[in-house]
Amino acid sequence: MSSDVIAIDGPAASGKSTVARNLSEALGIPCINTGSLYRAVAWKLLRIGLNPESVTEEEVGRILADTRIAYEKPAPGAPPDIRIDGIFPGQELRGAEIASGASKVATMPNVRAWLLDLQRNMAKRGRIVMEGRDIGTAVFPDARFKFFLTASPMVRARRRLAQSGETFDGATLESVARDIAARDEQDSRRSVAPLKRADDAVLVDNSEWESDQTLQFILDQIREKENMEKKETVLAYRVPYADTDQMGVVYYANYLKYFEMFRSEMLIDAGLSYLQMEKEGIALPVIEAVCRYKSSARFEDRLTITGRVAEAKGVRVKIECEVRCGERLLADGYTVHACMDMKNNRPTRVPPALLKLLK
Ligand code: DC
Repeated sequence: MSSDVIAIDGPAASGKSTVARNLSEALGIPCINTGSLYRAVAWKLLRIGLNPESVTEEEVGRILADTRIAYEKPAPGAPPDIRIDGIFPGQELRGAEIASGASKVATMPNVRAWLLDLQRNMAKRGRIVMEGRDIGTAVFPDARFKFFLTASPMVRARRRLAQSGETFDGATLESVARDIAARDEQDSRRSVAPLKRADDAVLVDNSEWESDQTLQFILDQIREKENMEKKETVLAYRVPYADTDQMGVVYYANYLKYFEMFRSEMLIDAGLSYLQMEKEGIALPVIEAVCRYKSSARFEDRLTITGRVAEAKGVRVKIECEVRCGERLLADGYTVHACMDMKNNRPTRVPPALLKLLK
């Protein structure tokens, strides 16, 4: 089972918070801005007179042992907000000094480990939108939906400058662009959970979009995936005489043929077609096949073959299959495929259309 999390990752000022908030409203589910948790740590350090830029990891560890951060309602009926040791810092967390301190403490492995548990506990009560830098890669690598937002550096600088209180006094477009680039660098280069797109995250470049277009795109993607998950491919097949052996049962090697028939059907159901993929220069040769035989089938038995894309990572795809006669399981197993670029005869990344089939 995957985690019922909608992960929204991306660099600073890429529009994550806005779209996460809008999504949570549209779907009526909670939203956690995990950047605020790192900001909360920086806020606490500054409050007790420590500079996040120079404090040691050990010192931060000692302070966290005595710190309580939670999402709670500041007043009855109000949306939940960050509470640190009983205080709601509200807008204080949005300042530029806190932002750069947050980026610094976010490089510390013990801070990340401490916040990891907190974030995972927050998702235990049902579907949630979680926004940050490493939600789809480290916090919930099994999130059901993953989006990686981005926008050009200039667009991001313009957006950040327009958010009052988020930049230093006297900031210009150029200085904000420089600050953002420095934070991107720090967030992407750290050794633990660096900012990077998960292989199975949908890339959303919203440089040219208004926030409602980004929201609509993400909602469409979620609905499409949900519909696809509901629509299970079931291939029905009547065993012909030619498939049976001298013992009168389906010859074992035929099950791999059934797996192949299923894969073809599943791709067509998803609007993909293997024939079309090959025409476009992508082949999926089998590099591993496993079949476990449980029971046998005979001439004229009606078989149903089901399956799913179980894994898709880098250049490999794993497709699981089950063959049944009524309720009786005859065989189950899987094939692993290398994704090949036929023009260069080299492995290539799994195409996004196939990644979408991942369940
Ligand atoms: O999104 P933000 O600007 O509020 O984030 C503040 C900092 O926290 C950012 O520089 C990187 C860090 N962060 C992180 O490392 N991992 C997250 N999941 C969220 C934020």
